[in-house]
Amino acid sequence: QHVAVLMGGLSSERSVSLRSGEACAKALEDEGFVVSRVDVGRDVAAVLTALKPDVALNALHGPGGEDGCIQGLLEVLRIPYTHSGVLASALASNKEKAKCVMAAAGVPVPGGKTVSRFEAARAHVLAPPYVLKPVSEGSSYGVFIVKEGCSHPPQELLRADWSHGDLMLAENFVAGRELTCAVMGETALGVTEIKSLSSEWYDFESKYAPGGSVHELPAKIKENIYLKIQELALKAHKALGCRGVSRTDFRYDDRPEGTGELVVLEVNTQPGMTETSLAPEMAAHAGMTFGELVKWMVRDASC
Ligand code: DAL
Ligand code: MG
Repeated sequence: QHVAVLMGGLSSERSVSLRSGEACAKALEDEGFVVSRVDVGRDVAAVLTALKPDVALNALHGPGGEDGCIQGLLEVLRIPYTHSGVLASALASNKEKAKCVMAAAGVPVPGGKTVSRFEAARAHVLAPPYVLKPVSEGSSYGVFIVKEGCSHPPQELLRADWSHGDLMLAENFVAGRELTCAVMGETALGVTEIKSLSSEWYDFESKYAPGGSVHELPAKIKENIYLKIQELALKAHKALGCRGVSRTDFRYDDRPEGTGELVVLEVNTQPGMTETSLAPEMAAHAGMTFGELVKWMVRDASC
């Protein structure tokens, strides 16, 4: 079988995607597939038309590759592809719309609102602490935490990076533990706790710098919370209509003075796929090698 691995692309997560794509391409070669590596640019339709792959393995992250655009093109070209389809990708990639759909399905999400950069820079848009994030970005690009005691307007906010769009999602900051759970088809995998070492929270640096964070799998949390997280990951995956593998990120406030709140921050329809990424780690914990996971994705692909 001939698999085109789609990677790179033009989003801010290009470098992460190149790593995901290369890991998947290599694993597929080891599994005996014929592999074409496609660095996605504006000529992608012509490239795929010429290659005529049996399946496309989508290893893209961020706008263009995770938001329904490439999925729509693959539908038109009638090439089966991995991960979620057009609607689920478009919904999940818009953090504001995804929250509406998840909340309607009974999935707890942090309270908040969408604001323009001008509103956010003029005054506090929520009671601090709150998080400002681009509506459609991944890997924590452009995410900014507004803390208690911040001046009006927060100086850091005026200096913040707004290149990721004018519309920001302002969300109440939920303190506590950072947890994540991948879904594979109809099954929730294990729950991982992420402990950031190089930063206060799980930002780009702690995600990708060596030693930036440690993953604890299975997470050492109460069993009922562990099961609840798996149930909610599956519920969120289904509510958005996801397919194949997705990964849902959570925050859980179990501090003694905390609220006990457990919320979904987002569903990633194109979770990181380097060999040390979270979803492959969860698959390994369930007894599946990286090669087996990628092979499963290719078999599960459809259009
Ligand atoms: N956006 C990155 C790739 C992830 O969610 O794993
Ligand atoms: Mg993300």
